[in-house]
Amino acid sequence: MKPFLFVTDLDHTLVGNDQALVELSKILSQHRQDYGTKIVYATGRSPVLYRELQVEQNLIEPDALVCSVGTEIYLNGSDHPDTGWSDILAPGWNRELVFSAAKSFSELTPQPDSEQRPFKVSFFVKQELADKILPEIETKLQKYALNIKLIYSSGIDLDIVPLSSDKGQAMQFLRQKWKFAAEQTVVCGDSGNDIALFAVGNERGIIVGNARAELLQWHTEYPNDYRYLAQGFCAGGILEGLHYFGFLE
Ligand code: GLC
Ligand code: MG
Repeated sequence: MKPFLFVTDLDHTLVGNDQALVELSKILSQHRQDYGTKIVYATGRSPVLYRELQVEQNLIEPDALVCSVGTEIYLNGSDHPDTGWSDILAPGWNRELVFSAAKSFSELTPQPDSEQRPFKVSFFVKQELADKILPEIETKLQKYALNIKLIYSSGIDLDIVPLSSDKGQAMQFLRQKWKFAAEQTVVCGDSGNDIALFAVGNERGIIVGNARAELLQWHTEYPNDYRYLAQGFCAGGILEGLHYFGFLE
């Protein structure tokens, strides 16, 4: 068996199927110990909300934690975000300007303070308003020549982040740092902010059976042999995919 780089979203991907989570965590810990497999969580949550979930669900310690939709990387349990990564995001990013330009849209409700991060500005926006309003927001922000992108997830969450940042680019930063080939890397997700994980390159992809419409729609539009749509939900779907790709015996 060879080591692989395992990258997973948390809410409704790794977490949400208790029995399968216990089984998968055991298998991954063992694989890490025996073969040097690396475990990465890639979540939209801030470090504060991540810790809550980690305690609640008894999540095993990852080798790296990617928080705030790819805008923060914490290595080996460190409390400080990796500066190699934040140095890449900083040029051209102006969070005050992004926030003030976006908040003039009355359809947007700011998310709680804990989720407003140095490289992430987040709002709630209802699904029925999103199709119309997101392109308008984008156009407005482009006018200020802000180097940003909008990421919409789960029919409610809008994140505005630097163009150079998302879960996919953060994953590749780690993959290159640790020298894993794309075919020895697997990414798992369920919603809009995970599309970047699947879209960025040729890593193997597992879409869990309970995936949200926005991800399934993207998957249908951009099919790829390296992507597996599981039947099982959450960690159950991940286990299924890991076997499908031959990462586990
Ligand atoms: C998490 C974060 C939230 C973000 C969402 C989607 O729920 O707490 O700020 O908008 O993920 O990325
Ligand atoms: Mg999720």
